[in-house]
Amino acid sequence: MPMINLFYFRKSALKTLCSTLCCWMLINYANAQIKEQGIIPQPFKVEKTKAVFNFTPSTSISLGEGIDINNLIFFNQYFQSLSGYQLKVNKKATINLNIDSTKVTQPEGYILWVTAKQISITGHDQAGVFYGLQSLVQLLHKANGKITVQGTAIEDHPRFAYRGMHLDVSRHFFKVEAIKKWIDLLALYKINTFHWHLTDDQGWRIEIKKYPLLQGISAYRDETIIGHKKDSPHRFDGKRYGGYYTQEEVKAVVKYAMERHINIIPEIEMPGHALAALAAYPQLGCTGGPYKTATYWGIFDDVYCAGNEETFTFLQNVLDEVLPLFPSKYIHIGGDECPKTKWKACPKCQQRIKDEHLKDEHELQSYFIGRMEKYLNNKGRQIIGWDEILEGGLAPGATVMSWTGEEGGIAATKQHHNAIMTPEKYVYLDYYQSLYPSEQLAGGGYTPLSKVYNYEPITQELSGDEAKYIKGVQANAWSEYMASPTQAERQLFPRMLALAEIAWTAKENKSYPNFLKRLRYEQPLLKILNINAANTFDEITDQVTESADRQVQLNLMSTLPGGQIYYTTNSTVPGLKSKKYNKYIIVTASGKIKAAVFNGAKQYGRVYEKSFDVDKAIGKNVTLTNQPQGGYNPGNTFGLVNGVFGSKLYNDGQWYGFNGDDLEAVVDLGSVQKISQLGINILKYHWQKMWEPQLLTFETSADGKTYTEVYRQTAFNDNGINEVRANITPVQARYIKVKGINKGIIPPGEYIAGAKAWLMVDELIVN
Ligand code: ACM
Ligand code: ZN
Repeated sequence: MPMINLFYFRKSALKTLCSTLCCWMLINYANAQIKEQGIIPQPFKVEKTKAVFNFTPSTSISLGEGIDINNLIFFNQYFQSLSGYQLKVNKKATINLNIDSTKVTQPEGYILWVTAKQISITGHDQAGVFYGLQSLVQLLHKANGKITVQGTAIEDHPRFAYRGMHLDVSRHFFKVEAIKKWIDLLALYKINTFHWHLTDDQGWRIEIKKYPLLQGISAYRDETIIGHKKDSPHRFDGKRYGGYYTQEEVKAVVKYAMERHINIIPEIEMPGHALAALAAYPQLGCTGGPYKTATYWGIFDDVYCAGNEETFTFLQNVLDEVLPLFPSKYIHIGGDECPKTKWKACPKCQQRIKDEHLKDEHELQSYFIGRMEKYLNNKGRQIIGWDEILEGGLAPGATVMSWTGEEGGIAATKQHHNAIMTPEKYVYLDYYQSLYPSEQLAGGGYTPLSKVYNYEPITQELSGDEAKYIKGVQANAWSEYMASPTQAERQLFPRMLALAEIAWTAKENKSYPNFLKRLRYEQPLLKILNINAANTFDEITDQVTESADRQVQLNLMSTLPGGQIYYTTNSTVPGLKSKKYNKYIIVTASGKIKAAVFNGAKQYGRVYEKSFDVDKAIGKNVTLTNQPQGGYNPGNTFGLVNGVFGSKLYNDGQWYGFNGDDLEAVVDLGSVQKISQLGINILKYHWQKMWEPQLLTFETSADGKTYTEVYRQTAFNDNGINEVRANITPVQARYIKVKGINKGIIPPGEYIAGAKAWLMVDELIVN
């Protein structure tokens, strides 16, 4: 079998996909254990019967009136690679494809019937027939050289009209064959929109003939950061990097996608994330440059000048070349993360604010977006923008893509604007899917498969009327940490399948255990497609809780069917002879707990490990003057003294976050004791609005009334986790007061300047 990489195909991508599917099915059905089949995403209604339809070389297919021949071509490519023969067209066939919008009333819906004698797919429309065939492909069964399908009656249609996947090709560039393969996979899972993020600070990826320097300069960067953007100092690889799609290539991709019922929405970013364009055309920036295509990840102050007419001419000319390539009604114009620093200092931008009677730079952003919207509306298109386009007022017909949270989408629906939900917290697939230390480098926090799967786009805040403005849901794949196709696959699969199910499957039909079951059936397919899919979902996860007597209780879990966990407490590798995990583990000493899950004698996945630091404060009572907020442990204090340190993943459940408020915690040791060290961990990620305190102090007291300051610190240098360990002159004390004065308002020039800073702390340490 050829070695196939998701992102680099030698032959026709579809042919390869088909031949690999064939191999998958051969293996799948040769393996007696994998008999059950399922469809991802789960259909609306499925009934199974005992009937079996047998394919033979004389089985033929009839195409009802108006059925696109592509349906048969695609199906035959799959089918032939499985069976060795093709289905021919015959009016009196046993397989019938039809379109009947009276019988199937829902757009993109289909009915699939399989009896012993007949298979019939009736679609509401072409897409419905196509999706019926995608489901049939997943149900084909090969055993003893025979192709069969179990009898079934499926009635299916999507929950949402907009089912999107995004891919950033600026931070890392993926070649055309890779994109086509990507599109094949989207189609297989009934995703109908591909949001192609084509321009950003680190590279401009679409040919614009009028501006050749976009190809000559903007498509390339001098080098690329190594490691994570929060690492300090930044290190670079010294290698020029880049590439772009020619207009001919773009046309081919758009056609390829349309044949598979996928609409491509191009994104041309403005007014921020523009550094690559400014590198080539510095007159479009407020200062005139010089600028360079960015070599690391982040948000950059240099954006398009909103006071310069040439900026608008440039962007309009760019769009004039983009629009003919993309028939999409919607064009994405970005709008996110546009710092206002340069606009504030720019005479031209300030003049524009005056001339247009705008209140401030936020209204200038709104002016910018509104003006571009008008231009696109005049060309018959609608805009989509990230939720920051709400700043300073929403352009009249704009659709909001809600990413910073769900609030933007909700706000848009209240103004009767359409919205697409893609909240960072749930569906950013560039985030970590596992808390294991060996997990590959990723973008932000922790978003396991279960969290993606359980995301519900229609939140309770949306009344029945407003909910109809939520057009759908999308997952995003920012490629900062997906430098290679293999890395991208590991990040996106299988979480993309969870997105497909959120988008397609009726809410009442969703079930995570059932999804996992179908996902396990899907493994051989993903393997044979040579997709480097993650299998973290059945690995061990944990919860550190408080026992009735405030001891630290470690709970381990795995969804692996028949899985049994074994563990060690002395850092050795766990095996079948280690301790068997039953209910929980009470942690009484510092050290590392390791565990592995086994099905019989076979270990699944990687070894789990967790370190505990047991000190004098463990499990002791803590009083907080201000409550932490958001997802950072409001209403509980045990996590501050549970022996587990928060990791670099800020949403790992360990961190306590104070939004604009100070930290004031008192630990009661229960008795007066000798104390010689006090400590705390502080998470500092300015790009995540997480700031070190202005001042940190430790005070001690014997009676809880009179406190004496024993330590103070005002400088925190390390980006990431600051481990404060203050060795003090030994004192006798029962109470420890820890105060951290919040940074307050994020200062100008910093990420999200003007917002309240988060003070993030974990683990109060007393020795
Ligand atoms: C975004 O993630 N900046 C839209
Ligand atoms: Zn300006």
